[in-house]
Amino acid sequence: MAIAWTPDLSVGVENIDEQHKIWFEKANELFEAGKQQRAKEYINTMIDFLDEYTKKHFSDEESYMEEIGYPELDAQKKAHASFINDLAKLKKDYNDGGGNLLVILNANKMVINWLTNHIRHMDKKIGDYVKTL
Ligand SMILES: [Fe+2]
Repeated sequence: MAIAWTPDLSVGVENIDEQHKIWFEKANELFEAGKQQRAKEYINTMIDFLDEYTKKHFSDEESYMEEIGYPELDAQKKAHASFINDLAKLKKDYNDGGGNLLVILNANKMVINWLTNHIRHMDKKIGDYVKTL
């Protein structure tokens, strides 16, 4: 299944929404590469792209929350760190399995669910908070 950002995922903060859209694209590129059975080096590059973008996005989002004095910053930081670990584990499992594409394909659901749940249940509250300022 293709993964796309949909307007119902809007947080209401433009920069965050724009980054979320790109984030979905990076995840999509990884799973497309898995479906197309691309070579291990290519898959690893896509995992690295997703990982780098995720870290950049989390760091920007955390700076923004700090800037506005967002009260649930700690919970966000914990959730972010846990997802970074999941991605590291995905890369490790893939490579430990000698480049088993099933590892990538099976992770599809986990990643999509994580992104959408996190945005819906945690990031949207950032937008709600901004409105009260
Ligand atoms: Fe977040």
